[in-house]
This record gives sequence, structure tokens and C-alpha cells, in this order.
Amino acid sequence: MVKILGIAGSPRLNGNTAILLEEALKGAREAGATVNKVVVCNREIFPCQACEDCRKAGECTIDDGMDKIYHLTTTSHGIILAAPVYFNSLNAQTKALIDRHQCMWARKALLGLEVTDPETRHARRGLFLSTAGADDPRAFDGALKVVDMFFEVLDIKYYERLLFFRMDRKGAIKDHPTALRNAYAAGEHLVVEIERSLGEKKV
Ligand SMILES: Cc1cc2nc3c(=O)[nH]c(=O)nc-3n(C[C@H](O)[C@H](O)[C@H](O)COP(=O)(O)O)c2cc1C
Repeated sequence: MVKILGIAGSPRLNGNTAILLEEALKGAREAGATVNKVVVCNREIFPCQACEDCRKAGECTIDDGMDKIYHLTTTSHGIILAAPVYFNSLNAQTKALIDRHQCMWARKALLGLEVTDPETRHARRGLFLSTAGADDPRAFDGALKVVDMFFEVLDIKYYERLLFFRMDRKGAIKDHPTALRNAYAAGEHLVVEIERSLGEKKV
């Protein structure tokens, strides 16, 4: 069965990106996937301290429960990351979670170890959902670069990104004519795409 992980990154619970994530997860669930969700602000994720312990064995030595998140980010077939733009990047809590994947980078790049299952890696896909207050689609440029690297470290190919600007007010996304439907469809299609790819031979 396809496993999907939703990451709710915003400190604004039930805010714009959280609403989009709920719709996408609903689509994924209704397409038959098993769905897990991590609400980043319900956890105290410590920022990376650059202690470099992970360079020795590819393991992070900070004891704050990230091991459960690592398990989900490395074993789920699909990741739906939902987070707002803050100062042209992602909000700090989401960025801390991403930075803590430095141990995965070390595993791969320095130690030559596997991060994900070689049998199913080819089918891993990512969906990025984001909102920004600015009246300018370029508001996402910085965040997109961060997400590119996060997905790359986790052997995840981009499936889709849904980005909505002019969304400063909490809940503004509900007034968008198509956003919620778009998010539902993206979650649903993500599962279909992963299933299709799992059925294909590895390249
Ligand atoms: C600290 C902070 C920084 C922000 N920085 C930006 C920014 O650089 N560009 C932008 O377009 N919007 C910015 N915003 C607006 C948010 O991206 C916007 O309100 C978004 O819809 C919030 O999503 P959420 O409801 O999921 O938290 C910022 C908001 C906050 C609180």
C-alpha cells in the first residue's frame, strides 16, 4: 500500500497551508493510501547544531524525537510538504526540520550509505504546497530552492507544486476559486502516480 506523509509546517494551525494539506491528504486517503501527518509546531524540533556527529555514522545525536520523523520521511513513498513563505524562504520551524536532514545528506554524500529503499526509490514523489502574502509569484523562489534540496536528499522526485500568492489573511485560501479542489486532486494524483511507478521496473 502507498504510504504518504503530510508535513504541516506552519505555526498558524488551521492556516492556509494547513487547509491545503488537509485537502491533499483527503485526496490521498480516498485514493487508497495510508496517510501519516506530522504537525511540526506540535514538536520541539531542535535546530541543527553543526556538531558534525552525523559525519561519523550518518546518525543525528540530538535526542528530541526526530528519529520518528526520519523513519517517516525515509520510508513513505510520497511526501506532501505544506509550509508558508517567511522572508523569502520557509518558516523557521519547517526549516529546522529540513536542516536536521543533514544526517541524511552525510549518509549519502560522505559515507556512501543508502537513505531509502533501493527497490522502491524510483517511485518516491513529492508535492509542495505553499502560500505567500506578496502580490508576486516570485515570493516562492527562495522556498523552492530549499524544497528542491530537501526532496533531493530524500531521493524524492517532484511530482507537483501548488503555490498561491496574495494569501496573507488566515483562511484566505478558502476564498480562492480552485485551490482546495486543486489540492485534493494533487493528493489523489500523487498516489496514482506512485502506484504507477511502483508497478514499473526500476530504471
Ligand atoms: C514572519 C513572517 C514572514 C513572512 N514573510 C513573507 C515573505 O517574505 N513573502 C511573502 O510573500 N509573505 C510572507 N509572509 C506571509 C505568509 O507567507 C502568508 O501569510 C501565508 O499565507 C501564511 O501561511 P499559513 O496561513 O499557512 O501560515 C510572512 C509572514 C510572517 C508571519
